[in-house]
Amino acid sequence: MGRWVRACSLGELPPGGRKTVDCGLGELIVLFNVDGTVFALSDTCPHQGAPLSEGQICEGTVYCPMHAWPFSLECTDKPPNDLIRHYCVRIRAGAIYLAAPETD
Ligand code: FES
Repeated sequence: MGRWVRACSLGELPPGGRKTVDCGLGELIVLFNVDGTVFALSDTCPHQGAPLSEGQICEGTVYCPMHAWPFSLECTDKPPNDLIRHYCVRIRAGAIYLAAPETD
């Protein structure tokens, strides 16, 4: 796993919220708070670059706003999830920290 970097405070991402951050990991990252669980993945759809931060979420999947490719919020190898980077998330002292998985 790579270095942990601070993304934002937990207060900036209440349950049901979403937020795009640029925290020095090389790309824009979208954070989703789904019922208190925070997920983080690339904000850029690997198909044609639409922002996943504008996608709809249903049952643990975010749908790209442009052509509705489905990306699981959990890190899986199932296509098209294998085309997008998911980030490790940890909460410390009221802040959200991210790290890129080692396999990337
Ligand atoms: S740009 Fe995301 S599915 Fe086409």
